[in-house]
Amino acid sequence: MKDGLAWNKKHYNVSNFEQYDLTPAPFLVSNLHYLKENNSKLILDAGCGQGRNLLFLLENGFEVIGVDGAPNALQVASDLLRSKKMKKYTLINQELQDISKLKNETVDAIVSITVLTHIFDPEKVIGEFSRILKKDGLLIVDFATIRDSTYEYISKGTKLGQNMFLEQGTKVKYIEDKKEIIPLFKAFEIISINEESFIEPGHPGSRPFEHEHSSYVVIAKKK
Ligand SMILES: C[S@@+](CC[C@H](N)C(=O)[O-])C[C@H]1O[C@@H](n2cnc3c(N)ncnc32)[C@H](O)[C@@H]1O
Repeated sequence: MKDGLAWNKKHYNVSNFEQYDLTPAPFLVSNLHYLKENNSKLILDAGCGQGRNLLFLLENGFEVIGVDGAPNALQVASDLLRSKKMKKYTLINQELQDISKLKNETVDAIVSITVLTHIFDPEKVIGEFSRILKKDGLLIVDFATIRDSTYEYISKGTKLGQNMFLEQGTKVKYIEDKKEIIPLFKAFEIISINEESFIEPGHPGSRPFEHEHSSYVVIAKKK
């Protein structure tokens, strides 16, 4: 099954989407200045989900493209952005391993929030990010660490590899040390990799309760 359809079933196949909290990811808020300083105008949110980060970026004056493999998530994002009377956005239903609807070197920045943790082949997806980004374009992504609060219960499930598990049809890979992810960014100049903890509100489908995440947040610039 395609990743997006597994997510559609696990996370977005619930009747009351209004329950979603619209607070943007904290490390997107704290790193927004990088996008402004780099003079980014068009930003791709890869794996945009129900659109909380798209809304935040639009409210901060950026033009956005949201891509997600889960059609139900995009429907929620579309309803949200229309209800907030946003204009400068495009939503695309496609898998991140091959975002063929986006041409080479067309976006100024890419954010991908709590997504690469769930991708079987992050190298391929980061290759797509590099193809689509303009030279000197910015990338903000994160990877869950083994210090993430979900590790304790997800690691009791089906094991797929080292620190990699199956959770309701989707993959979760935890990183122990940032050395594991540095080789993925050969096409980039890494600006920083910081381990950050943040609280996420509950979301229906898989975690309807407040939970704490720990992620390596990578800020990088395409060479
Ligand atoms: C944990 S959610 C995060 C959503 C959003 N970035 C946010 O911060 O609210 C992960 C999202 O990535 C999408 N996704 C996961 N694997 C994907 C893939 N291979 N292609 C496209 N979308 C994918 C899922 O459908 C889901 O919406």
